[in-house]
Amino acid sequence: MGYRILEPEDIPAYLRERGHWDEATDPEVREVSDGNMNRVFLASAPDGTRSLAVKQALPWVRVAGPSWPMNPDRADAEARAYEQVAKVAPDKIPAIHGYDPENYALVMEDMSDLEVLRTLLNEGASYGPHTSARIGEFVAQFSFATSDFGMTSADRKALIAASVSPELCKITEDVVLSEPYIEHEHNHWHEGVADLAERFRADARLRTEVADLRHVFMTSAQALLHGDLHTGSIMVGDREGTPVVRVFDPEFSFVGPIGFDLGLYWANTLVSEQRAMTLGRLTDHADQLRLSWEAFETEFRRLWPTRVDPFFDDAYLDRFLKRVWTESLGYAGSEIIRRIIGFAHLTDLTTLEDQVEASRRSLLIGRELIVSRGELPDVNAVRALVQPT
Ligand SMILES: Nc1ncnc2c1ncn2[C@@H]1O[C@H](COP(=O)(O)OP(=O)(O)OP(=O)(O)O)[C@@H](O)[C@H]1O
Ligand SMILES: [Mg+2]
Repeated sequence: MGYRILEPEDIPAYLRERGHWDEATDPEVREVSDGNMNRVFLASAPDGTRSLAVKQALPWVRVAGPSWPMNPDRADAEARAYEQVAKVAPDKIPAIHGYDPENYALVMEDMSDLEVLRTLLNEGASYGPHTSARIGEFVAQFSFATSDFGMTSADRKALIAASVSPELCKITEDVVLSEPYIEHEHNHWHEGVADLAERFRADARLRTEVADLRHVFMTSAQALLHGDLHTGSIMVGDREGTPVVRVFDPEFSFVGPIGFDLGLYWANTLVSEQRAMTLGRLTDHADQLRLSWEAFETEFRRLWPTRVDPFFDDAYLDRFLKRVWTESLGYAGSEIIRRIIGFAHLTDLTTLEDQVEASRRSLLIGRELIVSRGELPDVNAVRALVQPT
C-alpha cells in the first residue's frame, strides 16, 4: 500500500490490519505527540482493559512541517535499538509489539501510567534510589551486548553497517558538537549569559577539546547507543509497588562511543541539580552521577567474563572503562553547554523565574568537564568541581 501518514481516525483500522487489535470494540484514540519529531497516538479499549501506543515518523520534523524534511527511516533506527535492548534488558524499555517499516510505525506498550523523568524533576521530585542505577545498568547491558565484547567480529560489522544513521548523526555533530562554539543562526541564549557565550566562542582550548569529542563521536564505533539519553527520554513510576524505569525514543541510535549515552544523562542530572539549588529544593541530585556510573561499571564488569573474545584481558577492561569515564565527562560538558547557548534549551532552566545564575554555573561546569576531563579521575573529583568548597 505504501507509506501513509496516519491520523487518529486511521489508528483503529491500522491496528486491526496489523493484527494488534481483535477486540469487538474499536479503541479510543488520542494523540499525545509532545516531542519535536514524530507523532504518538494512544489507543485504549473503552472499558480500559487494553491499551497500545503507536509512534510514527513523518518525512519531516513534526513541529516544522514539510519545510524541514527529514528521512522517516529514523524509525528503523529506533526499532533496531529496541530489538537489541529487548535481548538483554527488556525490563528497561517499553514492550515492543511490532514495527512496520513500510509506514515507519512502531506499536508498543502504552506507558501513560508512568511519567517523564524531566517533568517530575522539574516539579521538585527526587530521583529515588532506583532511577540512575537502572540507567547505568541499561547503558552497560545495551553497550556490552552490541560491542566487540558481546558480539562476534562478523556480527558486529553487520550491525555497524546496518546502523549507519547519517542524517541524525549529522544533527548531533552540528547542534551538539560544533554550533555552540561558532557563530550560527541556530544559537540563542539568555542575555545574562551572553558574555559566556562570546567567551566560549573565542576559547581556543575549549574549541580543540570539542573538536576531539566530535571526532571521537564520528569515528569511535564502540557499541550501539541510544543516542539521545536525556531525562526526557526516560519514564519512571511504580507498578504494584515495584519501581519502574523505562528508556524510550532511541531514534538517534547509531554505533558510537559509549560515553555519549552516559554523558547526556549526566549533563541532565547536573543541570537539574542547578535548578534545584536555585529553588532551594536540593534532594538527592548530587548522587546521580555516582549512582549511574557505579551501576554501569558494576554491570559491565559483571558481564566481562562472558566476552566473546578473551584476547581482551582484564587489564584492558580497566583501560577501556577509564576511557569511557573520561569521554562521558566530555560529552556531559558538551551537552550542558549546547542546552544553554545552542539550539534546543532545557525547561529545567528556562522555566526558572531567574535562570541566569543556574545557567552560568552550569556553563562553567560544562566547560570544566570538557577541558579537564583527563584530570578528573573519579566521582569525587567531579563533585569537587560541581560543588567547590
Ligand atoms: N509508549 C508510550 N506510552 C505513552 N506515552 C508515550 C509513549 N511514547 C511516547 N509517549 C509520549 O509521547 C511523547 C513523545 O514521544 P517521543 O519522545 O518518543 O517522540 P519524539 O517525537 O521522538 O520526541 P523528541 O522530539 O523528544 O525526539 C513522550 O514525551 C510521551 O509523553
Ligand atoms: Mg525523539
